[in-house]
Amino acid sequence: MIPSLKRLAGYSIIFGLVLITALLFTSPAVAQEVAEEELLEQGAQIYAENCAVCHGEDGQGRVGATLAKNWPSIRPDLRVRDVIDRGIPGTFMPAWGLAHGGPLTEQEIDATTFYILSWQDGGPIYIFPTATPGSRLALTPPPGISGDPNRGAFLYASNCAVCHGLEGEGRVGATLAKDWPSFRPDLRVKSVIETGIEGSAMPGWSQEHGGPLTDQDINDITAYILTWEGAESIEGTQEPAVGPLTGWPVWVIVIGVFVIIVIAIIYYSRQNPSED
Ligand code: HEC
Ligand code: HEC
Repeated sequence: MIPSLKRLAGYSIIFGLVLITALLFTSPAVAQEVAEEELLEQGAQIYAENCAVCHGEDGQGRVGATLAKNWPSIRPDLRVRDVIDRGIPGTFMPAWGLAHGGPLTEQEIDATTFYILSWQDGGPIYIFPTATPGSRLALTPPPGISGDPNRGAFLYASNCAVCHGLEGEGRVGATLAKDWPSFRPDLRVKSVIETGIEGSAMPGWSQEHGGPLTDQDINDITAYILTWEGAESIEGTQEPAVGPLTGWPVWVIVIGVFVIIVIAIIYYSRQNPSED
């Protein structure tokens, strides 16, 4: 009886330590680093198999252009990704994206882009992975707004973030994460998106104005932009979840481990009252 309890205590402590270690290794920062390493490795392999023949093993250029260089664009990732996806018509550079008859999935193009940009002086800029509708926690639509901000977030990331910043902080385009002074900010924002701003870099996005977006798309983007009004209260809801263990499961495990350790210590000291 007594030795088995002792052993139980020992096992509990080992189990607790293993859990804590597992927790550390699945923490967001570590998970992100692992993800980046995997992306680089994957990109390097795709590059070696498909691109090195024309662009040189280290991107130094052969028949194809030099890729080991600093890209002048504000979003080199979008630029490089797009060239890989579509190719450069009229040159030897083929289109690689599945959508354009090539063999590579979007994820594979992301990895290759990441690898190519790692040749820049300062390494790649970290905007990966491509925004997908599922990568954000659910956003609540602002009151009285009809669009779906979750779908809007996805459309925003692929169309607007280049100029306005991923969180609406402003880049070449105006800051959008702000309070709109208008009585009906939704109508104001929607109409700017539809028509664009003449004489500026802001294009019109509605199909009526030659853009690619439907009315529903624009409503959704508007709803998303307006979630930034009074941003303090919704901060945190826009953080993409990184790593498999974030939020409440972490706390359940931490508390569980703590309880196990306490029980183990109590058992252990009961079985050895005279040892000190
Ligand atoms: C058959 C040869 C060939 C292959 C294979 C090839 N490329 Fe290219 N690539 C070219 C040529 C040629 C150019 C330059 C085209 C031009 O602008 O004249 C180019 C241009 C590019 C550019 C744009 C360079 C710049 O300065 O704008 C990128 C990025 C690129 N290639 C990436 C890739 C990737 C990634 C792969 C593999 C998935 C690949 N290429 C495979 C021939 C090739
Ligand atoms: C090529 C860059 C570019 C892109 C892409 C772009 N914008 Fe803009 N946007 C601008 C610029 C520049 C301005 C400021 C124009 C000015 O006031 O002179 C602006 C202004 C705006 C404004 C008005 C801001 C204010 O304070 O009144 C809104 C709203 C807006 N953009 C939404 C969007 C949305 C939504 C998208 C994506 C569907 C988008 N923009 C894509 C460049 C861009």
